[in-house]
Amino acid sequence: MLVDGNNLTTIWFYKAEDSVKIIDQRLLPHELKIVNLNTLTDVVYAIKEMQVRGAPLIGVTAAYGMYLASKESSDIEKLIFSGKQLKNTRPTAVNLSWAVDKIIENIKDIDKIKRPNIILQLANEIREDDINACSNIGDNGLKLLENIYNKKKSTVNILTHCNAGWLATVDWGTALSPIFKAKRKDIPIHVWVDETRPRNQGFNLTAWELINEGIPNSLIVDNVGGHIMQKGEVDVCITGTDRTALNGDVCNKIGTYLKALAAYDNKIPFYVAAPISSIDFSIKDGLKEIPIEERDSKEVSLIYGINSKGHKETIKIIPENAQCKNYAFDVTPAKYITKIITEKKNIDPTTESISTLLE
Ligand code: MRU
Repeated sequence: MLVDGNNLTTIWFYKAEDSVKIIDQRLLPHELKIVNLNTLTDVVYAIKEMQVRGAPLIGVTAAYGMYLASKESSDIEKLIFSGKQLKNTRPTAVNLSWAVDKIIENIKDIDKIKRPNIILQLANEIREDDINACSNIGDNGLKLLENIYNKKKSTVNILTHCNAGWLATVDWGTALSPIFKAKRKDIPIHVWVDETRPRNQGFNLTAWELINEGIPNSLIVDNVGGHIMQKGEVDVCITGTDRTALNGDVCNKIGTYLKALAAYDNKIPFYVAAPISSIDFSIKDGLKEIPIEERDSKEVSLIYGINSKGHKETIKIIPENAQCKNYAFDVTPAKYITKIITEKKNIDPTTESISTLLE
């Protein structure tokens, strides 16, 4: 996608240095910095500290992490241990274990000398597949936006939560991919961007993506969604997902559930864009079984931005000795979801419909 008029992706293998390049997303939107990942330790840090984030991108990064680990040792026991270290970095996004398990499964019976090259090939394939899946999600989601536009004949107002744009994947994004495609088809759109406290992925990342793509948008704090839905200013909600269960329950950034409830009460379609790599077919009941990541309370108590002197600064916004709880995700029950948009087709949030993706 575009940054200052140039195409950029979030991660790529840089052959000349035998290393992996990423955007350090912690610094956006105030600084665009590309950093190198050279070791498994670099990758573990990048995922844990959220230099990279977003379920699909975490999966792709972990795949390259397995390559960097295999340069240190390609013994299968060591690789399984490295995979465990990667999986432990962030518990909710299923793409992480999906990518690690896919690599272990493919190389376990291969000569250890050949493993690093094969793992690199697999990681490059996982990256390419993510780009294609997200592009197809865009095409499938575009059909839904076109339907709304054909009925309404004026600007389609879309509400999104967190960042499920290209920064959460390699390119295109999930929830934002249909929006980028609609822009290319000249469908008039306007996006309501939820702030998404505590880390503000909406304000910091989604807004930056939309501005770079020239898509009209308005930033709103997290509690505004219900009000503008009641006023008829939202035609459709689209979010991403970090893990979708077989029964159609969707785990996504904290606050998604409240938006789904408000959409349901106002009869507004609530779509979830989900690459198949983010569906956990082994989980039958999302509400009961999906692990919810709890993050450092500093994300709640501190806020990062530009101060009056134009310098980057982090400030404290709570009383001394206040206690914070920082749940990073919540689960939206399937009954509040209108459709799940995947790279294969748009499906119902039911076990029956989701199971057809395995055919
Ligand atoms: O904590 P983050 O920034 O990794 O959370 C990201 C989200 O919740 C996205 O909406 C989700 O990964 C789906 S995006 C493709």
